[in-house]
Amino acid sequence: MASQRLPVFQKFIDDLRQAFADGPDTKAAMEKTQSLLEGLVKDEGLRAHSKDWPSTEGHKNLLLYEDPDYGFAINAVVRTPNRKGGIHDHAHAWTAYGLLDGVEKLERYSRVDDGSKEGYAEIKLDSVSESGPGTVDLVPPYDIHSEKGGPGRSVAVIVRSERLVGRVLQGRYDPEAKTTHQGEGPTQVPFELA
Ligand SMILES: [Fe+2]
Repeated sequence: MASQRLPVFQKFIDDLRQAFADGPDTKAAMEKTQSLLEGLVKDEGLRAHSKDWPSTEGHKNLLLYEDPDYGFAINAVVRTPNRKGGIHDHAHAWTAYGLLDGVEKLERYSRVDDGSKEGYAEIKLDSVSESGPGTVDLVPPYDIHSEKGGPGRSVAVIVRSERLVGRVLQGRYDPEAKTTHQGEGPTQVPFELA
């Protein structure tokens, strides 16, 4: 299977493995991951290849790769036009979010209340940044954010320091109702970049 992989994607995996081997910690590895992912999402060949990737509509992620040694996972999200993502965090995991095709807006929020009241959360919108092909955001643990699709289809490649789905629940937030709850992340759909 591995020999069938797109060469640009195999090289990316090899470079990520080196970044995690070099460490010295997850933060350092994910900072290297951010620049490696910038290289990947600027690749015209991969962008052309992604035109055929299936939609992840219905709270899904394509699972492109999961590393057996270091535990990092590479996902893709294929959004339909004007898709409004929910507001959430990624628990203790680091996430590098790279836009390969289309445009999206990334909203970042901060928590206003002290979190002492069960199920209650006040959050405020701090910034909205528009990303186009080739941009990568590094999202630290527990950072509250939301990705909103643009007017056309958009494709993102995501590297997570570990897979949370099936293991750890993630925070979800409703700013109008001022509520929060813990939920399961997106369904993982294995997809080989061959
Ligand atoms: Fe996210």
